Amino acid sequence: METITTSSTSVTKDTPLMTPEKPNEVVENKVIDRDHRGQTVGDVTVENPRMTARNVNVWYGDKHAIQNVNLDIANNEVAALIGPSGCGKTTFLRCLNRMNDTIDGCLVEGEIALDGKNIYDKDVDVVPLRARVGIVFQKPNPFPKSIYENVAYGPRIHGLARNKTDLDEIVHSSLKRSGLFDEVKDRLDQPGTGLSGGQQQRLCIARAIAVSPEVILMDEPCSALDPIATATIEELIDELRKKYSIVIVTHSMQQAARVSQRTAYFHLGDLIEVGPTSEIFTNPKHKLTEEYITGRFG
Ligand SMILES: Nc1ncnc2c1ncn2[C@@H]1O[C@H](COP(=O)(O)OP(=O)(O)OP(=O)(O)O)[C@@H](O)[C@H]1O
Ligand SMILES: [Mg+2]
Repeated sequence: METITTSSTSVTKDTPLMTPEKPNEVVENKVIDRDHRGQTVGDVTVENPRMTARNVNVWYGDKHAIQNVNLDIANNEVAALIGPSGCGKTTFLRCLNRMNDTIDGCLVEGEIALDGKNIYDKDVDVVPLRARVGIVFQKPNPFPKSIYENVAYGPRIHGLARNKTDLDEIVHSSLKRSGLFDEVKDRLDQPGTGLSGGQQQRLCIARAIAVSPEVILMDEPCSALDPIATATIEELIDELRKKYSIVIVTHSMQQAARVSQRTAYFHLGDLIEVGPTSEIFTNPKHKLTEEYITGRFG
């Protein structure tokens, strides 16, 4: 058994998954489980996980928003989280870098490990964690600073540059990798907020990658963008996958199909089904997934 131990907590590939409350009923090759109290359909684990979520539950006060979710995030993979509004996609995504810590009354239970170390352990500092697991929000949110300073901020506070030449290099290469450099190279001292929506989103991606993350979380990153800006971001996601793990929440089935290798379908706080994207979209095994992707639900 492969065991990864980086400090007090060790998470193994065989860390037990929650036992289902009842087995899934299968009729004509489809899982019929409309009250969704069964086990996630498909393999939630991967060979070489970058992150592992085990038995994750989230409450907002009395509201049980995520129920017993188990999911691995692989290296060099884009994983898409899909499902109807309110099913818990954002909530789960935010668990992966402890953004939910900032919400009063939000309780996260279970275990989420990055490279084998539980990120909810008491000795984990969230500041470096959020540099290792960066997040890009639905609405681009550049700081009210110059384009240069937006990207330089993270490397500076994390001490990644020894001098101005190093910092320039990080800023320029991050902007190049996010596909924005050529459009802004002559006005790096201008406010980031003065860019177009698509440019601002690429600036936010440059800001996230400037601190050399391992995982990038994206919550509907293209929902405010036109098709051209969307295509640019999708190409970028494909490029970023060579180096990072990416988890993307999207309401666009076409986008999930275009950019992701694995897709996870959530429904009312449960992870219903996970599998290779091509299979989820052509041959879903759970009735609820099928209804969602064929537009009969959600
Ligand atoms: N800050 C909060 N306080 C209380 N309840 C919340 C909070 N954030 C989310 N919820 C509830 O948790 C559930 C999951 O919400 P979440 O935002 O994760 O859904 P989602 O799948 O991202 O939806 P959408 O597609 O609309 O973005 C919903 O019932 C929502 O009302
Ligand atoms: Mg959401």
